[in-house]
Amino acid sequence: MESHLNSAETVSAYDELPLWSAIFGLMLLKHVPLRRNVRVLDVGCGTGFPLLELAQRLGPTCAVVGLGPWEAALDRARFKARIRGVLNVEIRQGDAGAMPFGDEQFDLVVSNLGLNNFGDPDAAVAECRRVMKPAARLALTTNLQGHMGEFYEVFESTLRGLGRVVALDALKKHVNHRATVEGVGALLERNGLRVTRVLEEATSMRFADGAALFRHYFIQLGFLEGWKGVVDPREAEETFSRLEKALDGLAESRGELSLSIPMAYVEAERI
Ligand SMILES: C[S@@+](CC[C@H](N)C(=O)[O-])C[C@H]1O[C@@H](n2cnc3c(N)ncnc32)[C@H](O)[C@@H]1O
Repeated sequence: MESHLNSAETVSAYDELPLWSAIFGLMLLKHVPLRRNVRVLDVGCGTGFPLLELAQRLGPTCAVVGLGPWEAALDRARFKARIRGVLNVEIRQGDAGAMPFGDEQFDLVVSNLGLNNFGDPDAAVAECRRVMKPAARLALTTNLQGHMGEFYEVFESTLRGLGRVVALDALKKHVNHRATVEGVGALLERNGLRVTRVLEEATSMRFADGAALFRHYFIQLGFLEGWKGVVDPREAEETFSRLEKALDGLAESRGELSLSIPMAYVEAERI
């Protein structure tokens, strides 16, 4: 056992998933229907979450397929499946909007932070419906408007203070692109699915100050580019330096920088 625990492969596969995915994935894993003898599809499976966890929780009577376009991530998922000995999983490269599957193949389709982020969510949902068996369920999680609201308020007041009118408009669009429960319901409905269950929760991501937020690895990977896209590149340095100071000020006055993360778990069936 000792030598197994010290193998680089074991340690690498043990290192599970982004904390960001986990917050939403725990919600999904808490509520998603788990039955024997089902075929499941995880759309936008990334590096294998919740794909591999679901495959293990469902066990050997079930088959779980992961789909995504990001080849390097799929290789990572395949590696983890091999090292962990997860045998009931298959990983396919492809686009949710043009799935490489026949009609009515799956009893359950899941997507953790996927569907609403895809380039063409309507095409993706229409494809989900096509590959769902008549009695199948779709279960997804998404973040919602209100996401990091405290940060966006400071961003807005910083832009206002600097008189950046164009950027204020771009910020509004950026904030409004975030999902709402109503918007997800409408997306599903116009593509032949009916919402059967909606659960909402909120958590927070806490930082000591703005400096910590902007230097956080996953914030840089997943969010910073979108925030920078709001401002004219020539004004980015000044804007972000002011924004960081303003966030530091908020942290100082409140004792920390706590950002709200509202989340939804949505389940749907075929109409
Ligand atoms: C926010 S990540 C979530 C990944 C994973 N489900 C998790 O919880 O960690 C979104 C995923 O969607 C995938 N994706 C983006 N566009 C896609 C598309 N058109 N079809 C399928 N997956 C897509 C990305 O490759 C990425 O893995």
